[in-house]
Amino acid sequence: MTSDIAIVGAGVTKFGKRHDVTYRELLAEAASEAFLTMDEIHPEDVEGLYVSASMPELTVDQAHVGNLAAQELGVTPKIVSRIEMACSSGSTAIRNAWAAIKSGMIDTAVVVGLEKMTHNPRQANKGLCIVPDVEYESINGITAYSGFALAARKHMKEYGTTREQLSMVAVKNHSNAAKNEKAQFHSMGEISLEKAMNARMVADPLNLFDCSPITDGGAAVVLTRGDLAKKYTDQPIWIKGAGQSIEPSLGISNMPSITEWHALKRAAKDAYKMANVEPKDIDVAETHDCFTIAEIIEYEDLGFTKKGNGGKFIEDGESRLDGSLPVNTSGGLKAKGHPIGATGIAQIVEITTQLRGKAGKRQVDDARIGLTHNLAGFATHHVVHILSNER
Ligand code: COA
Repeated sequence: MTSDIAIVGAGVTKFGKRHDVTYRELLAEAASEAFLTMDEIHPEDVEGLYVSASMPELTVDQAHVGNLAAQELGVTPKIVSRIEMACSSGSTAIRNAWAAIKSGMIDTAVVVGLEKMTHNPRQANKGLCIVPDVEYESINGITAYSGFALAARKHMKEYGTTREQLSMVAVKNHSNAAKNEKAQFHSMGEISLEKAMNARMVADPLNLFDCSPITDGGAAVVLTRGDLAKKYTDQPIWIKGAGQSIEPSLGISNMPSITEWHALKRAAKDAYKMANVEPKDIDVAETHDCFTIAEIIEYEDLGFTKKGNGGKFIEDGESRLDGSLPVNTSGGLKAKGHPIGATGIAQIVEITTQLRGKAGKRQVDDARIGLTHNLAGFATHHVVHILSNER
């Protein structure tokens, strides 16, 4: 069994309204962005091809996108898979590629993820609203917005988290997006706390600036066996730990708690153990801020701070670019954007870029160990990866 797996290529497309490209062009663009970060790669190297796509049947009337990807990339891999795990499709695809290389079945894999949503918001919204339990919950008004709004209310009641603290997450992530040209809201620049707090209501207490947007975008990574990494790059980034856990629940009603995510804790515990690190060792993290309350709960359940202290963690500036543990340096889902199938891969791209010291204005000084966290549904599925620039 192969022990070390390296990321040797990693790139994202510009996120936002991408009416300038078709779905297949966006897919090719994502792969090209990753290949451009490598010294070389040849079609015959691609033994695995993993495509993360949540809703192309709904938004672009196209199924069978694994074959579409092989056609656009001109490759004939031994393993091809299309992965649909809602918002965590991307990290699941990476995990599957990692497992296939680790098992020795293949040496090198391309993992590409994308979504094209903005030209067809009605279908995109349908795609989001059918992720929770349609028969019992969505039909009665429990969707992502209202589910996370319930979590926000309960977190406020249990731990004293404030409206201001939710908005502080948005202010931070927009500030980071202002330093990331690929981010959807890059040109919006920094936003004030007042602007974030006074935005129009979406699902009380969550307003527009507490929500991630509807986005078009793609991301790709290339993974390979450790002993092959130098062929592709002088700066391999190593996958040191990986964890995945799920609640036996489709919707919110079977969750043991909506403010403490046990499946996230299990996934994180496995990843930390495999990497032989602790939360205090993490230099930079990309976490799943689909709504601002999610990022606050994640600070706690990833062990960055104690339970109930997430609001104070953002208020004290700990997760800012100049804080003790910068979180969502890319702008996060909130301000970089959330093209569902691409998101988990884009998080890995951001941490890879940080660990390579190539994040420009948003570079975290001396970043050596990074973490990604990607979730789906009402926090019912979680994937955590820990990366390092040291083998
Ligand atoms: N944050 C800040 N500004 C936003 C925004 C967001 N999340 N979403 C949209 N906007 C801005 C747009 O830039 C737009 O400005 P423009 O006209 O200058 O481009 C303006 O608001 C109107 O955009 P529109 O798309 O018409 O807004 P909307 O009311 O239809 O949609 C939301 C807003 C929040 C409902 C939508 O973005 C959404 O559904 N987000 C959640 C997505 C989701 O659930 N993802 C899965 C999470 S698990």
